[in-house]
Amino acid sequence: MTLEVILKKDILTLSALNPSDFSVLFERAKELKSRHKKGICEKSLAGKTVGLIFEKPSTRTRISFEAATAQLGGMPLFISAGDTQLSRSEPIADTARVLERYLDALVLRTYSHAMQEEFAGIASIPIINALTDRYHPCQVLSDLFTVIEYKQTLAGINIAWVGDGNNMAHSWINAAAKLDFSITLACPADYMPDEKILSAAKEAAGDRIIVTEDPVAAVSGADVVNTDVWASMGQEAESNKRRQAFTPFQVNRELMSHAAKDAIVMHCLPAHRGEEISAEVLDGSQSAVWDQTENKLHMHKAILEILIAG
Ligand code: CP
Ligand code: NVA
Repeated sequence: MTLEVILKKDILTLSALNPSDFSVLFERAKELKSRHKKGICEKSLAGKTVGLIFEKPSTRTRISFEAATAQLGGMPLFISAGDTQLSRSEPIADTARVLERYLDALVLRTYSHAMQEEFAGIASIPIINALTDRYHPCQVLSDLFTVIEYKQTLAGINIAWVGDGNNMAHSWINAAAKLDFSITLACPADYMPDEKILSAAKEAAGDRIIVTEDPVAAVSGADVVNTDVWASMGQEAESNKRRQAFTPFQVNRELMSHAAKDAIVMHCLPAHRGEEISAEVLDGSQSAVWDQTENKLHMHKAILEILIAG
């Protein structure tokens, strides 16, 4: 299995994928999930080593990529960014040239998106974006896979994004440009998605992407209600200011009453109960978050297998 358009096979943003690439990933994640449940032992990454360099904390992404690599018969190698010579100003280009000699793929979580582009521009091995300040593509790939599990399709599905126009929102916007679901994003005026990302996606998606400041309008009739933290990693100093702007954007029982009756609630986690989402909604019967988090494992396996083993 191969992806059509990924030059040198990196996943830095979802805008680099074709609709058929999404389908290949969804199909393989489904197969790998089913095989995992049956206890089938995989060997597709036997003899392969996957490095992970993280500048920011992570529970789900790090551990699911590490477990995914191990469960496919490969060797994960986690390296905290501070433990590498990157922290002492060794150039990214030199680091990339070194690591491509040791590793079969490199999973990166960085503040800067440009840093990952620089790695990808030099390294011959796949570079996989495990979150930057700008995008979180692998999370949204597994979230789309979760939507398909719950709703059987993405076609015609109405997604609501309520909260920050952040890295997660940007990857959802990129996905909407490629796939035939609709998304309405409700964000406070000062926390809208990046205008360039939005206008590029709207060229392809037209009015399947809508941005509003009204959370009720976004959620009305939605099949999926999605939110994320009000202050992302690196924005902790802005927490108080953000709390004021975002308070009307909490996903709670009242807001959910405007969604479709069978709507699911998604959150990439970590969640702050009582801030962006109420405890009763996060822990309630409409919540898909634990399946969502599990699916990171299966989607990450599909990504690694397809990019490394083909
Ligand atoms: N959803 C997500 O990326 O979680 P982590 O920060 O724990 O990896
Ligand atoms: N927007 C959040 C996502 C965490 C997985 C952040 O960047 O911190």
